[in-house]
Amino acid sequence: MSFGVRRMKIFVDTADLDEIRELASWGIIDGVTTNPTLVAKSGRSFKEVIDEIFDIVDGPISLEAMSEIAEDMVKEAKDIVSTIPEKHRKNITIKIPMTPEGLKAVKVLNKQGIQTNVTLIFSANQALLAAKAGATFVSPFIGRLDDIGQEGMEIIEEIMDIFTNYDIDTQVIVASIRHPIHVIQAARLGAHIATIPPGIIRKMVKHSLTDVGIERFLKDWKKIKK
Ligand code: E4P
Repeated sequence: MSFGVRRMKIFVDTADLDEIRELASWGIIDGVTTNPTLVAKSGRSFKEVIDEIFDIVDGPISLEAMSEIAEDMVKEAKDIVSTIPEKHRKNITIKIPMTPEGLKAVKVLNKQGIQTNVTLIFSANQALLAAKAGATFVSPFIGRLDDIGQEGMEIIEEIMDIFTNYDIDTQVIVASIRHPIHVIQAARLGAHIATIPPGIIRKMVKHSLTDVGIERFLKDWKKIKK
């Protein structure tokens, strides 16, 4: 299956292994993003989560580095890489916060061939700098901007314009998605990826007219059978 040359990817934004397994079985999941809050919510340890998640999804899996100094971030990233079986290492993506220390770490990790996802991005300037430093992905958090009364999707438009102008190959992950309309807006702007909480993916799949249609077909099928 393909949507032409470019294909919008869907990542699932959770550390809930049952949800990841179920949604991956739908054939719609290209990757996973986690953060410490999501791991804590899953009720499992970080180790348990990463042990299983790589077996379920063959695509970029973002895991957060929690250090604040570049050197420590690089060390933490390498420690994470070393715990992942060799066959899954191509999918490891280290989430690095958008700070000057984070940019230093991204520069080093990029040179060492470790994928990074620069997170907590709230402006197009931050996305531009992360891309310059060598980020594989940038994650603008649109819902958190909406929460403070700023139109989050506007920065996606700006980032997509800038990255297109200069053929920047860093991919934009629209993050902090709060409802299905965010996904449509992200897709219309040509964002590479939307990372979506499971509950919102479940809302995307539903339509009341689909349910009514199925019910009617089933009723009529019973009449035909009689
Ligand atoms: C994904 O990488 C982010 O951690 C996540 O989308 C943040 O979402 P939130 O703003 O709902 O916590």
